[in-house]
Amino acid sequence: MGMILHYIKPYKWVAIFAPLFMVFEVMMDLIQPTIMQHLIDDGIASGNTSYVMKMFMFMLLAALGGLVGGVGCTIFASRAAVQFSADLREAVFHTTVLFSSKNKDDFGIGTLITNVTNDVETLQRAVLMTLKVFVRGPLLFLGAIAIVFFTARELFPLLMVIVPILMILIVLFTKFSSKVFGVVQLQIDRVNAFMQENLAGIRVVKSLNRHLHQMKQFQKINDRLANRSIRAEYVVSTLGPLTTFIINLGIVAALWLGVIKIDAGIIEVGVILAFINYLTIIMNGIMSSSNVLIQIARAVPSAKRLQRVLNTRPAVQSPENGINRPIQGAIQFDHVSFYYYNEEEYVLKDISFTLQPGETLGIIGMTGSGKSSLLKLIPRMYDPKKGTITIDGIDSKQYDLRVLREAIGMATQRAILLSGTVEEQLRFGKVDANEQQMATALESSASTAFVERFDEGMAHFITQGGHNLSGGQRQRLAMARAFVRQPKILILDDTTSAVDAVSERFIQEKIAENFEQSTKIIVSSKLSSIRHADQILVLEDGEMVGIGTHEQLLSTNAIYKEIAETQRAQGGMLHE
Ligand SMILES: Nc1ncnc2c1ncn2[C@@H]1O[C@H](COP(=O)(O)OP(=O)(O)OP(=O)(O)O)[C@@H](O)[C@H]1O
Ligand SMILES: [Mg+2]
Repeated sequence: MGMILHYIKPYKWVAIFAPLFMVFEVMMDLIQPTIMQHLIDDGIASGNTSYVMKMFMFMLLAALGGLVGGVGCTIFASRAAVQFSADLREAVFHTTVLFSSKNKDDFGIGTLITNVTNDVETLQRAVLMTLKVFVRGPLLFLGAIAIVFFTARELFPLLMVIVPILMILIVLFTKFSSKVFGVVQLQIDRVNAFMQENLAGIRVVKSLNRHLHQMKQFQKINDRLANRSIRAEYVVSTLGPLTTFIINLGIVAALWLGVIKIDAGIIEVGVILAFINYLTIIMNGIMSSSNVLIQIARAVPSAKRLQRVLNTRPAVQSPENGINRPIQGAIQFDHVSFYYYNEEEYVLKDISFTLQPGETLGIIGMTGSGKSSLLKLIPRMYDPKKGTITIDGIDSKQYDLRVLREAIGMATQRAILLSGTVEEQLRFGKVDANEQQMATALESSASTAFVERFDEGMAHFITQGGHNLSGGQRQRLAMARAFVRQPKILILDDTTSAVDAVSERFIQEKIAENFEQSTKIIVSSKLSSIRHADQILVLEDGEMVGIGTHEQLLSTNAIYKEIAETQRAQGGMLHE
């Protein structure tokens, strides 16, 4: 919590103005009933028109003053709160964008996004409320009590009875209503989550003909939300009448019991009106104070959660004074073992192989055998738990992380595209790519034809996640993005699974032609795309069950042979 508040520091001067303006507004608010009292009792009662006019002007001035104070407070408070939350969001983005895959696994990327967005918003609201109301509530409360004490001492005992009752009532009420609204919020979250999931998976829902079922499901949770909301509104609507009733009851009781003796001339109408006004002010004071406290209490878990995010350092770090020299692309895995969560479940066990610059390694293995995991270790998305990976003979952990990753062009199994034009996709791979390089990258990935078919060509806009592309187009652009880097180490994780056989053959030839000097690691479930590799690594359950050329493996490796035979029988595919 403390750390989070650091983010308000740059705006402390702005923030301090808010309560100052608020003090002014409160003073103006407090003075008005007294002016009114004089206007009535000393002016209207005695028919003194000029006095009435004078008091009226005072009242107007006080009201205007209050307006200035209120608006000023809001301006400064919202400035401070908005800038605070903008900085906080930026800090969170800066932290999370550096997260390694391990950090993302730990937080869960979906909840991380919603939590961060909601938490920052909650904190912004809490800061705004605090700046606006934290001073206002208690000040109104105490000020009004003091004024009654000094100007209408005879009514003070009445205050002593009504105020505690109001206080208890309001505190209980805020507690109860915040519980009720907490339930409503929970239902809102459920509705949102359901909507999000079903819209994201709309194709699945439709293709499986489940939309009627999902609609019924949605109706159920939506109805529950409606019911809870209505109930919450009932609760809220009771407070106004209840407090008015108590105030009125107090006044009637006071008249009845003779505390207020109008007919005896001890007290005047204006005083009573002012008193009722002050009571209302006191009530507002209590109410806003308890609201602020609730807001702050609600913000604490948010602050803690954000703090946890902000305190997280990337699981994979660049070493201090990391090695910064050109990478040639020799890769060696030396007894590498790796697991994601616990030692019981090694995903890779004792993997060793050596690749010279320019060589190609093909990796094949059943689904879940650890192929993608192996690839992720090379750009240090994760670090091995045992063993070392050396690049050009040096432990990859000793390289400056940027230098290491600069040398690698990787297309992951799920072709992930960020929104932007085709050209921007390529520039994501290499910021300063020239026309020629981009054209070559598109050609090598068999993308030229479909990009040319877009009306805007290179300026064609790809929507978030590449959803306006076909699966194969997405994969090809993701490859082009890796190609354009002209990396020393090229890593392709099953990136032609949705590409037709003709294009695939073409891409293979282009890779051989354009990346002769690069070390290539290619995972594929299709034997055809790796059979010409210098070495082929066969993975099974994280273990290396064979390594060698296609011919060697065919004659020595039972598993490889089986894969080859199955694929031949099924026309070239491993899984389908
Ligand atoms: N981020 C992760 N967190 C935890 N476990 C994971 C993670 N990614 C993969 N695994 C597990 O590691 C094992 C190997 O997964 P990996 O993705 O490396 O397999 P793969 O050989 O690439 O499979 P496929 O052919 O289906 O792509 C699997 O058992 C999988 O459940
Ligand atoms: Mg995989």
